Formats: sequence, C-alpha cells, structure tokens
Amino acid sequence: MKIFKKNKVVVFAAAALMALPLSKAFAQKVTPADAKMDAFVSGLMKKMTVDEKIGQLNLVTVGRATTGAVVNSNVEAGIKNGNIGGVFGVWGTEYVQKIQDLAVKNSRLHIPLIFGLDVIHGHRTIFPIPLGMSATWDMGLIQESAQIAAKEATAEGLNWVFSPMVDIARDPRWGRISEGSGEDPWYGGQVAAAMVKGYQGSSMTNADAVMACVKHFALYGGAEAGREYNTVDMSRIKMYQDYLPPYKAAVDAGAGSFMSSFNTVDGIPATGNKWLLTDLLRKQWGFKGFVVSDYTAVNEMSNHGLGDLQTVSALALKAGLDMDMVGEGFLKTLKKSLKEGKVTQAEIDIACRRVLEAKYKLGLFNNPYKSIDPEREKTDVMTPANLQASRKIAEHSFVLLKNANQVLPLKKSGTKIAVVGPLADDKRDMLGTWVVAGEWEKSVSVLEGIHHIVGNNGTVTYAKGSNITEDTMFMNRLNYFGQQMVSIDKRSSDDMLNEAVKNAKDADVVVAVVGESQSMSGESSSRSDISIPESQERMLKALAKTGKPLVIVLFNGRPLTLTWEDEHADAILDVWAPGTEAGNAVAEVLFGNYNPAGKLTATFPRSVGQIPIYYNHKNTGRPYSGGPTKFKSNYLDISNDPLYPFGYGLSYTTFSYSDVKLNKTNLKGNETLTATVTVTNTGKYEGEEVVQLYVSDPVASISRSVQELKNFKKINLKPGEKQDVTFNITPADLKFYNSRLQYDWEPGEFIIRVGTSSVDTHMAKVNWSK
Ligand code: NOJ
Repeated sequence: MKIFKKNKVVVFAAAALMALPLSKAFAQKVTPADAKMDAFVSGLMKKMTVDEKIGQLNLVTVGRATTGAVVNSNVEAGIKNGNIGGVFGVWGTEYVQKIQDLAVKNSRLHIPLIFGLDVIHGHRTIFPIPLGMSATWDMGLIQESAQIAAKEATAEGLNWVFSPMVDIARDPRWGRISEGSGEDPWYGGQVAAAMVKGYQGSSMTNADAVMACVKHFALYGGAEAGREYNTVDMSRIKMYQDYLPPYKAAVDAGAGSFMSSFNTVDGIPATGNKWLLTDLLRKQWGFKGFVVSDYTAVNEMSNHGLGDLQTVSALALKAGLDMDMVGEGFLKTLKKSLKEGKVTQAEIDIACRRVLEAKYKLGLFNNPYKSIDPEREKTDVMTPANLQASRKIAEHSFVLLKNANQVLPLKKSGTKIAVVGPLADDKRDMLGTWVVAGEWEKSVSVLEGIHHIVGNNGTVTYAKGSNITEDTMFMNRLNYFGQQMVSIDKRSSDDMLNEAVKNAKDADVVVAVVGESQSMSGESSSRSDISIPESQERMLKALAKTGKPLVIVLFNGRPLTLTWEDEHADAILDVWAPGTEAGNAVAEVLFGNYNPAGKLTATFPRSVGQIPIYYNHKNTGRPYSGGPTKFKSNYLDISNDPLYPFGYGLSYTTFSYSDVKLNKTNLKGNETLTATVTVTNTGKYEGEEVVQLYVSDPVASISRSVQELKNFKKINLKPGEKQDVTFNITPADLKFYNSRLQYDWEPGEFIIRVGTSSVDTHMAKVNWSK
C-alpha cells in the first residue's frame, strides 16, 4: 500500500490493485478503453469473495438526507468488512474522506466507495426547480446549471448525483412534476441530454465531473390520480411514444447510471422488471452503466405483492438491477439465494462488474480521493460567478402569464409599491423542493431584491397579509418529520389582512408574492386541490377590491388552477421556486432589467377536473371544436381548453409572425423540408422569443397526437427588428411507434405549424411520399 501527496490531493494506490496485471494502466491517466477496464475489473473480481461482490451491490445512507422510514446502521463495520459499495446522503470533504478511508484503508481489497447525493437543481448554489429551469428553453443554461452543480458537489467530496429526473408528467396533482421538465417527450429528451452532459463533462474522470443517475426508470410520472407512489399502467405505444424518449435520450448522451422507479410497469414493479431493465434498457437501447433501485424499492416489491424479501431481491437481481438502495435485501438474501440455486453466480458477477466499472469510469481506482480537496471546498462553492449564473438562469425561467395594460415592468423610481404576501419576506421557500445541501438562510427574499433595485428612489411597504395556509391537516403534513416548514403568524388573520389592505390603498401598485411553499411540491407532495391556498386567496380578493393594480408573483412547484387570479390580477409572473438568488432575479424582471421570455413546459388546467391535460393529446372520434356540444368529447360544466397552454408565455414586448413559407409542398423520401417564418418585434422592448415547431400527422395507421413539438429556436430581437427563422424537417421528424412498435413514418399529408405557443401557430400543409 502506498500513499503519496500530489498538488494537495491525496492520491492512493491500493496494494491489491498495484498487484493486478494492468496496474501500469492505472498509474497513468485512466482512459475509458473498454478492454482495459474489463481486464482491470476481471482481475479485481478474481480476488473477491461472494460476500464482497454482494457488498458492492449495497448502497447505504447514514441518514443526513432521507426519503423513507429506514436508514442503515453499522455502516462503519459494513464498509470495513466490504459489505458496502456506496454511500449517499453525506457531503463535505472531511466527512467524506473519513468514510472513504474506511473503505480504502481498512477493507480487505481497498475498493473505493461511490458517494451519491440528491443534487437536483444545484448543490450549494441552488438554481430554479427543474420545472422552472425547463421553462428557459435554453439548453446552454440548463447544461451550465448541471456543470456548476457538479463542480460544487465534487468540491464537497461527491462523485454521483441522483439527477436528472426525466419523468414525463401530465398530472400536476403529482408533486414531483416540479422535479422534471414537464409534459413533452421530445423536449424532455433535450433537457435530459443537456443535464447529463453538464454533470459528466468531457470525462467522468475529471475532478469536477460527477456521474449522472437518470430517474425514475420508468414512467414514474404516470402515477394514477397524481398520487405519489401510485400504480402506473399504460399501453406500450404510449410508453414508447410519450414517456420513454427522455430516458432514451439520456442513454444516448452517455448517462452512467439509472435509478429504477417505485411504480409498476405492465404490472411488474420497475425494480424487478426484466423487460424494462434488461430487454429495453440494455438490449434495445444499449445502456452500459449500472442501475440502482430507488429508496427501499426492492423491499417494497413485497408490498406490491411479489413475495418475501428473498424472493423479491432475487427477482430484482435477475431482472437487471445492480445496486440496492438502503433496503439491504441484496445484502441479506442473495448469498442464501445463490446456495439455493435461486440466483446464479453469473448474475451476481454481472451486477458487481457494473458497479466496479462505474467506479473505474469515475477514475476512483486511480484516485479514490479525486474529489476530496479541502481547498476546492473553500474556493469552488457558492462563488460570485455561480450565484450570478443562478440569478441569470432564474430570470430566464420566469413565465409572464398575464400583463394587462402593460402594468409590468414597474417604474424604478417615484412609485409607491406595496409588497404583500406570505412569500414576500421569506427565504426558505425561495429554493423549492430538493435542496439537500442548499442553505435557505443564504437565499435572497423578494422583498430584499426589490429593495436592492428601488433603493431610496421609491417607497416600498411590506405586509405579510396572510398565512401560507391555515388548514391544520395540510400544515401538519407540510411540516413532516417534525420540521417547521410553515407556521401560523401570531397575529390574527384579520389583523394581517387589514395591514395589507391599508398598505395597498396607500400604494400605486400592489405586488403580491403568493403561492406554494417549499414542501407543497416534490416527493410525497401530491395535492388534490391545486389552487393557491385559501388563506392567500382571501388576501388576494381583498387586495383586488382596493382597485389598485395587482401584480402577482407566483411561487409554484406545479401548474396551479388560477382562474380567479387570471380574471382579477393585472399581471401574473410565474417564478416557480427560483433558487438562491430568487429575490434579485424577481426584482430584475419586475423592473424590466430583464424582459421575461420563459414558456410553459406543462399545461395549466382551469380545474383539476380536466386532469390529465396536455397539448399532444389525441383527436378522439368526437372532437369538440366549437358549435353544439352534445355528444362531443367535452364537459358539461367547463371548456376543454387549458388556462395556459404548453409553450405559452408573454413578454414585455410583442412579436408578430408571418405565414409559414415552405421550400416545397410535395416531398419524397429523405428530402428536407424547410419551414420559415419571419418574426418581428412589434413592441417597445428588446426581448427573446421561443419560436416553436409542431408537426401533425392527420392520417396514419394508428391514431396520432393532434400535434407534436419537433424543434424550437430562441431568438433575440430589438424593437422593430425582424428575423427569419428556418426549421429543417426530415423524415426523422415524422416517425412514430406503430402498433408493432416499429419506429417509422408513413407517407401522406403533414401539417407544419410554427408559432409562439402550442395554440398560437401558423400552419402549412405538405405531402410526403416514400
Ligand atoms: C427517493 C426518491 O424517489 C429519489 O428520487 C431519490 O433520489 C432517493 N429517494 C434518494 O434520496
């Protein structure tokens, strides 16, 4: 065993590894050459006992960040005995180094541990929640956020992040819609790839790169009734066409690991689903990394009705699951199953090999301490540049839902602004869900951000106005595990309301900062009523009655039902949960230093009764398209239309679109169609516009979606400026999964739509023969 120091990074080469035939290769920079990796891993595995191999399949948490009732015990002894392959839920170089030492210095074969964490939208510097980030329609920014997260995470000893979450969601009752990129499979794939690239960088051996873990495989967002952990059941065509593409895009982008989901897929829990984990993921898609279960998901297969712990653990291994998170089903039962012939040595070996390969790809055999650098921990975390990036990305994520009479942007001076609402002077809720290592105390409140811009040039008053909620059952559930996430003010509701109304009456404009608090979305946060909580609505109604212009700054981890707000507020700026720089970003946009350009990636319903609601729905045999409603696909009591559709978002300026110009209207085979529109900035402000391309296939061998997003371009135009935006369309854009699950296109008519949202497009028709 030899330990030496190089550039303050402790480099460790274990004796066992030095003795291997390919040891020379590890003294050099590790290359990803498969042959070398195979030889290395094979050499190592020859030395391993069955227990040590099973140990590699065991992922534990020491309980700093938990999402279940169970945490592991005896972790120290487990690591020394070679019974643990990875640890998650810890960060900080000192802490991580101590744990890595246990494996590298005190276990028989000195195999390094992999260190994971839920780094979901930033590590220390927090970016907007993923649903917000997806509203930027800017893959560069999304990739940058992942890159920064990787840099910060590695500066604190981590090498594996449980992100991106790429689950398509069409049901905003499901709290985890906040963690994904919305409802569109193609767009979701773009985001998935950008995140994977951002995390993994040019090589996972780099000290500032982490391995991505794509989750939750698969279809987790299809939970029935939007209820967390609920059953998922859908046709294969729907899976392939609408839910699987983002996972596939992540594989194609080189994702190193996947996490299986809690739900069933075709009746079998994903964690033990051989079709899913082996036939689809590995054989069809060519995934070469490893699959970890979600938190105790192996054990939960018993609740799904698949048998006792030994049975379900064997099922999961045989299905293609490589690592067991927290539940220790593998650890406790696989050896017994091996003896009883219920699993084979080859099945244990392949899982062990995949975990070791991941460690190899991360360069951990070369340097188990590669991301344990106390210097970087001081210099690379929450830097001014990272905060600046967080602010920029937040500004780009905001969606202007309404702006009557150009009430926004606000004037920076000479205006009396009444800032009201329970989220206005709040720091915790700025970060949104999943901020394990994020420090909410360091976030900027909206009130602070407004003060930073207005300074002494105007009058800003503040009143809380209402509690976040006054529903006791709801509040108790938000304050889970005894945490004080939301609380009731000591003052009476009426006192709070009266203060807000008085301030409003004295002001020129009211900025009401309202919506969902941090724990209202995310894991285990399904809601059946997705409106703004009643206590806040009461305040909004009282403010509207003052007759003063009412601007709503909306915090939300999901699309909300906002029919009253849409009718009565003058402006609504949806800011999701913007992250550490929240208040500064909100103020920059409110005062017009940045002109909002975000567009929705998930449909906002008018009512929960419309859910699931999404833009790429089928036509049905009796579509409603105006006129008499009887015997049409509609409701008696509400329109079919969403409140705010997919792709929607306003700007302080306005854009006009020309008709769509095509290079030809009759095409054959692999020809390329070009569709061009001229977009003109017809307003007073410089601004960005997301120009969207949708394609419809009105006649096919199966019933197709009414339209599908195929591309977009984000452009910037000065007032009066115009630009031609051209999309190239090839047969690849016409393909779909037919009833034999072949991905192909069928000749005939296609409708090309280009526009500013899924419901506001210009269209042209083409005929495309094979
Ligand atoms: C459960 C969640 O479903 C998953 O997203 C997360 O990564 C794990 N817990 C680990 O915290």
